[in-house]
Amino acid sequence: MSDLQPRKDLLDIESLSLDEIEYVLENAVPFKQLFQRSVKKVPALRGKTVLNLFYEPSTRTSSSFEVAANRMSADVTNFTVSASSIVKGESLLDTIETLQAMRSDYIVIRHQAAGVPGIVAQHTRASVLNAGDGYHAHPTQALLDAMTFREVYPDYQGRKIVIVGDVLHSRVARSTSTLFHKLGVEVGVLGPGSLVPQGRHPFMTRLRDWDEVFEWGPDAVYLLRVQLERQEGQFFPSIAEYHKMYGMNSERLGRMRERDAYLMHPGPVNRGVEITDQAMGYEKSLISTQVENGIAVRMAVLHWLTPETQKD
Ligand code: CP
Repeated sequence: MSDLQPRKDLLDIESLSLDEIEYVLENAVPFKQLFQRSVKKVPALRGKTVLNLFYEPSTRTSSSFEVAANRMSADVTNFTVSASSIVKGESLLDTIETLQAMRSDYIVIRHQAAGVPGIVAQHTRASVLNAGDGYHAHPTQALLDAMTFREVYPDYQGRKIVIVGDVLHSRVARSTSTLFHKLGVEVGVLGPGSLVPQGRHPFMTRLRDWDEVFEWGPDAVYLLRVQLERQEGQFFPSIAEYHKMYGMNSERLGRMRERDAYLMHPGPVNRGVEITDQAMGYEKSLISTQVENGIAVRMAVLHWLTPETQKD
């Protein structure tokens, strides 16, 4: 840490240096080891407060941040947007001012609009952790994905991961692909032309179908959820058609097995769309490990960030 400049907020992956990424990923390892103990808590954030502010639904990220903050001994408040004055028309900046007055040390925020965590960060002394904003970024998801990949492939550099599905609407795809690229992992992409933006990620290898994917030789396949709630208009003929062309089925699973490839998914999973029930039981699925590593990574991030409230 001594060589790193203090950082107040975590808003995206693009602005992180390799040293910062390494720092978080390396520090997540001892936090994960804590989970084997009967007492899973450390006193690192005793007396600090963490506010979870989710404007969009979440299961994994919100509960993971809550567990992570609890394991760091912080006091956690979950702010329920649907039960707040926001539904009465309170503006974002007025909400921030109210939260600022509560003197939280960390604000974890998910919002449907890209850029909102950045705006909040400019208006508060608390450290802001982006828990997903629009199509823009989901940095802790990317960090937990990288931790998971590196656990199974300590020789991760030069390895290959293919991201499959709705890349266009996916903040996960944007952050995770950027992070893997920074770490020297090759990134491929497979999906309907309408859901794979041209030119956004020039470092990604565009693959046309599963035959090309398996010829390319991925070490892991990363399935994305089809984000129907974000799609205005029709991006593919039908769910059945999507499943047939891009879904993980028993034939594709057999080809994964032949190459010993791992399966990843950020959740929530749409069974019968991007993955079958059978594929969910694949022995080299890392989906549960991703969830577990999410807690360790978020503990490491909370430990690393420096709120300006610490200057008081
Ligand atoms: N991976 C992820 O962001 O899941 P949630 O929407 O459940 O938080």
